[in-house]
Amino acid sequence: MHQDEQKALVAKEAVNALLKQDPPFEILGIGTGSTVNLFIDALAPYATKFKGVVSSSQASTERLLQKGFTVLDANDVMSLDVYIDGADEINPQGIMLKGGGGALTREKIVASMAKYFICICDSSKQVVVLGKFPLPIEVIPLASQKVTQYLEKLGGVVSLRKSKVDSTKVFVTDNSGWILDISGLHITHPQALEVELNQIPGVICNGIFAQNKAQQLIVSSHSGVETIRF
Ligand code: A5P
Repeated sequence: MHQDEQKALVAKEAVNALLKQDPPFEILGIGTGSTVNLFIDALAPYATKFKGVVSSSQASTERLLQKGFTVLDANDVMSLDVYIDGADEINPQGIMLKGGGGALTREKIVASMAKYFICICDSSKQVVVLGKFPLPIEVIPLASQKVTQYLEKLGGVVSLRKSKVDSTKVFVTDNSGWILDISGLHITHPQALEVELNQIPGVICNGIFAQNKAQQLIVSSHSGVETIRF
């Protein structure tokens, strides 16, 4: 089965899981990325069954509005029944590395509002130790050089993310931040590293989701789809 078919399979499975909820979920948190896009499309026929959704990026918001969902402002919502998002890596404890699409800060905010986090991905994202995928750090542009110096001491190679559309330009997040990607890490203590990175002046957010880890994973492979609870 091709990777896109695997993503579509988990998207469908996540929709089935949500629709089975009794009492029904009212307000959902929605992540960002190609897997989530398929999830939004699969959930679209049931859009009006939900009171609303809180989105984690401008890209997801546009898609959700196009598909007929009511998109709520995070400040108008006390808590979310569930947050659904993809991941770039997920370990056997449900701790994730996220931010490949640059939406990590809003994703972490919306995830922190939810009572339950369901991660949806294909099995290529499952790892024993996080860090093969470059770890994204969103920074205030002014602090980019200073934060880079700090991050280099961790032993990885740090690069400033460039725009996919024009590689001569810096990638700018929905929050007007920049992204530093650290490659070559072997993250054996994700909880501690998440806290340490948050302490650096100028860091807005880092892509380790340990404090806001997944409680459930819906994952697909060549042999089908599986649900794991952490
Ligand atoms: C977005 O910033 C990321 O955190 C995504 O959740 C992650 O990159 C997964 O995206 P895909 O579903 O496209 O692999």
